Amino acid sequence: MIEVGERWAVIADCHGNADALAATLTEIDRLGATRILNLGDHASGPLAAAETLDLIMASSDMTSVRGNHDRYLLGDPATLAPSDAVAYAELTPDHLRWLADLPATLRVDDLFLCHATPARDDVYWLQDVTATGQVVQRARAEVDGFAADHMGEGIQIYLCGHTHVPGIVQLSDGALVVNPGSVGLPGYDDDAPVPHVVESGDPAARFALIERAQNGWQVELRRVTYDASRMVGLALKHQRPGWARVLETGWYTT
Ligand SMILES: [Fe+2]
Repeated sequence: MIEVGERWAVIADCHGNADALAATLTEIDRLGATRILNLGDHASGPLAAAETLDLIMASSDMTSVRGNHDRYLLGDPATLAPSDAVAYAELTPDHLRWLADLPATLRVDDLFLCHATPARDDVYWLQDVTATGQVVQRARAEVDGFAADHMGEGIQIYLCGHTHVPGIVQLSDGALVVNPGSVGLPGYDDDAPVPHVVESGDPAARFALIERAQNGWQVELRRVTYDASRMVGLALKHQRPGWARVLETGWYTT
């Protein structure tokens, strides 16, 4: 039973940014949140993978699910993309075991946790990519469709990350889909399904605060400013100028 007034925090997509995570955890603590739900992509990136996972694994208040990049780190190291490879090189067997034990999705009371959608860890829920690489809002029927298998199960909020874009959408049955945005990486480029760029335009770390009210949850999307200079330096050290740019400005495009 969750008491009225109880506050939880939702984080996602830390991507090895230990300084953004530390600032976010401090803010979550300041706001009096008693539990943290973490939607995955914990370590991947040319930043501070081991330090980030150490912070996450030491948090007794945190419940995590696995992201697509967490899954990649558990596969064949020879197939890793450059940023995943930097993270993999830093991780210990303990880190990898912890990642391997994560569930893909989780039900917590009337919340459903997933990295991207209930069925996939690598599909955008609230966004779509056009044939020319524009990232647009996904059509209503498709947004609803991703929750079809779970309608009628009493879920109030579906929590998802993956796109790194904060947002809240209401489904046809009244449940919400909430993406808290990314703690550690406000934008990126990707080749699939066609080359495209995602960028929040805000260099701050993002998370969501949810508070139990009489009639369900209140949801607030929040931002935390932090000093990104150490992470920018690590991105440059690993020859990832796009990461450095987006960490500094929130924009991937120049
Ligand atoms: Fe991610």
